[in-house]
Amino acid sequence: MAKKVVAGNWKMNLTKTQTVEFINEVKESCNVSDTLVVFFVPSINIETAKALVDGTNIKIGCQNMHQEESGAFTGEISANMIKDIGLEHILVGHSERRQYFNETDEIVNQKINLALKNKLKPMLCVGEVLEERENGTTNAVVSTQVKGALKGIEANELKNIIIAYEPVWAIGTGKTATNEEAQEVCKYVREIVKELYDEKVATDMSILYGGSVNNSNASDLFKMADIDGGLVGGASLKPDFSNIINA
Ligand code: PGA
Repeated sequence: MAKKVVAGNWKMNLTKTQTVEFINEVKESCNVSDTLVVFFVPSINIETAKALVDGTNIKIGCQNMHQEESGAFTGEISANMIKDIGLEHILVGHSERRQYFNETDEIVNQKINLALKNKLKPMLCVGEVLEERENGTTNAVVSTQVKGALKGIEANELKNIIIAYEPVWAIGTGKTATNEEAQEVCKYVREIVKELYDEKVATDMSILYGGSVNNSNASDLFKMADIDGGLVGGASLKPDFSNIINA
């Protein structure tokens, strides 16, 4: 069985002071033990956030890492730095990284390999842009992204990977995919994983939906057969995010 996961992607939001306030509030109101809750916090505030959640069920993850182990890459952080401060979760291939920072499937694959080598758990994001949805190439795009990202990854590593299907047209737009649209692609992602590996690997994989998930649509989306939770942007910055976690 796949584990239920709710992740919050804060992107470039919340100062240190706001981070402390927010985490303290969520900690009080979120009471789940069977769901993995991860906040992907801006790197500069990770240690602050982590100190506040240590000992709870909430995890803190990192939004990005470089694909090389170390070196002259001003402004970047490496997998072993992330590991060294005690983090487990790393977001890889988010559409904003693909779109604004030229993160290709090849780079995504390098990052996943390096993350796994450092015992980190990548959350891989895939999804089509509006034009691709409209011209009927969603499955082809998602398939290329999943296969590209998982190239060369051994079956025994798959338990450490989570995949989030995030249609780019639904991110930050308030335009959520319908439950059926989200389910259809999440199911398709599971089929690809089955084709690449086997049935057990596919059934055990947590596959999330992301893109304008909020307080009112979360519980219906999470009821769909192949949706094991959500990756939430905007709504993860609001105090009632605990309602999404509890959903
Ligand atoms: P959104 O962002 O929930 O604000 O649409 C989702 C994401 O970017 O992961």
